[in-house]
Amino acid sequence: MTARPDDLQSFLDASLDAFEAHAVDPEAQASLARIRAALAEPGEMAKKDGGRLPVCALLAEVAAPERFEAPDLRQVAEAFGQLEPRLEWRTRGGDMSTASENINEGHANAMIVGPGGIERRSDVWLGVSLLAPHVRYPDHTHPPEETYLVMSEGEFRHGDSGWFTPGVGGSLYNEPGITHAMRTADKPMFAMWALWGGEG
Ligand SMILES: [Fe+2]
Repeated sequence: MTARPDDLQSFLDASLDAFEAHAVDPEAQASLARIRAALAEPGEMAKKDGGRLPVCALLAEVAAPERFEAPDLRQVAEAFGQLEPRLEWRTRGGDMSTASENINEGHANAMIVGPGGIERRSDVWLGVSLLAPHVRYPDHTHPPEETYLVMSEGEFRHGDSGWFTPGVGGSLYNEPGITHAMRTADKPMFAMWALWGGEG
C-alpha cells in the first residue's frame, strides 16, 4: 500500500460529501457510509498514464467547474479536473444490443477508484461516465449496488421505471442486480457513480 496523493484525496473528500448531500434514498446513504468507511484505508496506487477518447472533448463543456452553481458540485468538478489527465477513458464492452448505433464513439467511462483506476481496489468502484448528445447507453446490470450523482442533464431508467431526469445534482440508487440505462437528448451527460462491492 502506498500513500494516497493529495489530489485524489481532495477529489474523494469533495465527491463523497456531494454524494451524501444529494442522495435521497436511505439505501444510498447506507451504501455511501460503507464506501466512506472503506476508503479511510487507501488501496494500491497505479502507476500509469491516462488516455482520452475523442468524445472526451465534451468535458470542456459538461464538466467545467464554472457550469455549477452549487458550491459542492463546483468543488467536485474542480477536483475532477485536476485528476482527469491521469484517467484512462474506455468504452464499455458487453451486450450493446439495446444501445444506440453511435454508442462506441458516443460514450466514455473512467474508473477513478476500483479495478483499472488510479487507486486499485475491489471493494469500492468510483468513476464517471460521459455521453455525447443523442446517445442511448445499453441496458446493463451488475451485482454491486450503485449510487449515481448526476452532474448534467440526461435521462435514466432502472427496473421497470420509465425514463426520468434527475437533473444537475440529482441522485439515484440502483439496487444489486437491477437493470439500468441512461440516454441523452441534445446535450451531453456527465455523471458520477459509486459502487459498493465489499462485504456487508
Ligand atoms: Fe451501472
